[in-house]
Amino acid sequence: MANYDIKNIDLAPEGKKRILWADKDMPVLAEIRARFEKELPFKGLKMSCCLHVTAETANLMRTVTAGGADVVLCASNPLSTQDDVAASLVKDFGVSVHAVRGEDNETYYKHLNAAIDHKPNITMDDGADLVSEILKKHPELYDHIMGSMEETTTGVIRLRAMEKDGVLKFPVIAVNDVQTKFMFDNRYGTGQSTIDGIIRASDVLLAGKNFVVAGYGWCGKGLADRARGMGAHVIVTEVDNVKALGAVMDGFRVMPMAEAAKIADVICTVTGDIHVVRGEHFEVMKNGCLVANSGHFDVELDLVALSKMAVKTEKDIRKNVDAYHMKDGRVIYVLGEGRLVNLACAEGHPASVMDMSFATQALSSEYVVKNSGRLDKKVYVLPHEVEQMIASTKLGTMGVSIDTLTEEQRSYLTSWEAGT
Ligand code: ADE
Repeated sequence: MANYDIKNIDLAPEGKKRILWADKDMPVLAEIRARFEKELPFKGLKMSCCLHVTAETANLMRTVTAGGADVVLCASNPLSTQDDVAASLVKDFGVSVHAVRGEDNETYYKHLNAAIDHKPNITMDDGADLVSEILKKHPELYDHIMGSMEETTTGVIRLRAMEKDGVLKFPVIAVNDVQTKFMFDNRYGTGQSTIDGIIRASDVLLAGKNFVVAGYGWCGKGLADRARGMGAHVIVTEVDNVKALGAVMDGFRVMPMAEAAKIADVICTVTGDIHVVRGEHFEVMKNGCLVANSGHFDVELDLVALSKMAVKTEKDIRKNVDAYHMKDGRVIYVLGEGRLVNLACAEGHPASVMDMSFATQALSSEYVVKNSGRLDKKVYVLPHEVEQMIASTKLGTMGVSIDTLTEEQRSYLTSWEAGT
């Protein structure tokens, strides 16, 4: 059996059921897996992956191992690991997993280093912690790594900063920036799973509530739409004029957080930035306000400031809910310790959307291997044809067909002569 550090191997049967349940909604990935099994694109290669350890990720791990990769998986967030899935990956699928839900910071980095000790040829990241650790401490791996995949907006921002500073030492594929990822995962995945996490944690009725969405990127758009669909009065906060204008024209109220915090029943951050909700906002919130974050890192809520302001903090007054008692008698409830609420308090994005994200991951890894030696130490996106191919396969599995261009249309679209 693979080497591992997980909660309990006896949880494997439950985890296997969840992995197979997710698999039935991941037909694009299954098709890639069947091809990989025959073609073995990763034969003889080592892969280290730092991802949320979920049933959907397990199916990605099955796909790359089917392609011949020797894989080590660690968690990309201390609170997102599904321990039963980790157990099944080790026991049933021979993947080496180092992840335990609720692990402390020291264990998180111990697990990350187990993935680095594997001496990978390919890495996969969700947040860029793995690449960042390699670049800081492991120069011996720079030339060994053919390329790295990055799953999320926050990670891509970090990687572009590395490229700009000239410290990136191998090519990276920004999986997040591929249309078949961000247009669906960020919007519909985050939209639905964030609402799911908030409801599972708090059992709040959203109809008629003031629901504040901080950040109107693709994730914020998805969340605002879904909250509106549940009957909430949605308020958007933004720092970007164009995005704010977009929110106004999509029919949302837009105002600064200092105003929104006064009337909010629920606040959820999805910005990727630090201290979006801070002392001055906690100061004016109503009694009973629910506060959550669905951005990658747990820095969007300034919980250090909240702890200092509170006269008493009660942990887990209900699973995944901490109560902060303020000196004027108000109580503010923080969900999932301010970590991404969709994974900490629910199961993350549904498998059907992760199907496309992880098909993109799998094909990006294959692309890196096929183009090994030809890519610069830069951040890339996948060629347009790959996105088209993933979307076309997904449509096919949904029984949807579309039109094709006629010769006349193709030539019209590529000519400049025809006009008024
Ligand atoms: N990110 C968001 N949802 C996820 C999921 N279900 N599995 C892995 N990563 C995710």
